[in-house]
Amino acid sequence: MDRYCVFGNPIAHSKSPDIHAAFAAQTGQHLAYERRLAPLDGFADAVRAFIAEGGKGANVTVPFKLEAVKLAQALTVRARAAGAVNTLVFSEDGIIGDNTDGAGLVADIVQNAGVAITGKRVLLLGAGGAARGVVLPILEHRPAQLVIANRTVATAEALVEQFAALGGAGVVAACGFADIEGAYDIVVNATAASLSAELPPIGPSVFAPGALALDMMYGASPTVFLQFAGQHGARLRDGLGMLVEQAAEAFALWRGVHPQTADVLNTLRAKL
Ligand code: ATR
Repeated sequence: MDRYCVFGNPIAHSKSPDIHAAFAAQTGQHLAYERRLAPLDGFADAVRAFIAEGGKGANVTVPFKLEAVKLAQALTVRARAAGAVNTLVFSEDGIIGDNTDGAGLVADIVQNAGVAITGKRVLLLGAGGAARGVVLPILEHRPAQLVIANRTVATAEALVEQFAALGGAGVVAACGFADIEGAYDIVVNATAASLSAELPPIGPSVFAPGALALDMMYGASPTVFLQFAGQHGARLRDGLGMLVEQAAEAFALWRGVHPQTADVLNTLRAKL
């Protein structure tokens, strides 16, 4: 049976084994997928050990996504743009690093929420690793504008510089939270503020009528960002759909079959 795993530290909380087991059952693929706790200073060794045991691929989560970039012998365009790897493929040619997080976010917005990105005004809150990982996949859907707002404006400006050369020229712009102008059709919270139950300092006017507000975090109850967005008329999505969709993208990469995600998402939601 082909073996896969997810590397992280901590890792006990990871939902990936449940998601991939459900995908495997649904598509009739025979595979095993386990959690692997890698020591903080031993990620590369843990990956090599898994390859030696016959592992075919792996997901990578906190805090190893940057180290996985260095470990990979080849990177996909989107992984290079993201500066982070969440999916590894162990091929005869070596270790290939990909990043399916952004594609997962886009699939959740376009397919699950039914909201087109093309021609829309998109506001991305945050400019850290989570934000950087989704810029290219959003730009590929040709939004009218993508504004990256961040507490530290220079970090957002650096992203604009990077992505201007990758199809973002004239589309992507940076600003501080206090300088956000106009209203947006899609507002994505990629800041770490929700972790500490904080609201990024945005006003209610950022939400255009019928806007979609998406927080990359998820939990049993809505984040403060989603509560705020809901109070101002936005449609709400948390990060659970993105989690399932990034897994589906990885599964497709490994197995050549793209699983259905709706039932898996509903099952996970019921367990939150
Ligand atoms: P991640 O990989 O989750 O993106 P990160 O690279 O540390 O983690 O980035 C965290 C992001 O959340 C950054 O954009 C950070 O803003 P700064 O660049 O100014 O540090 C943002 N962030 C963290 N706490 C925040 C808060 N309380 N309000 C607004 N933004 C916050």
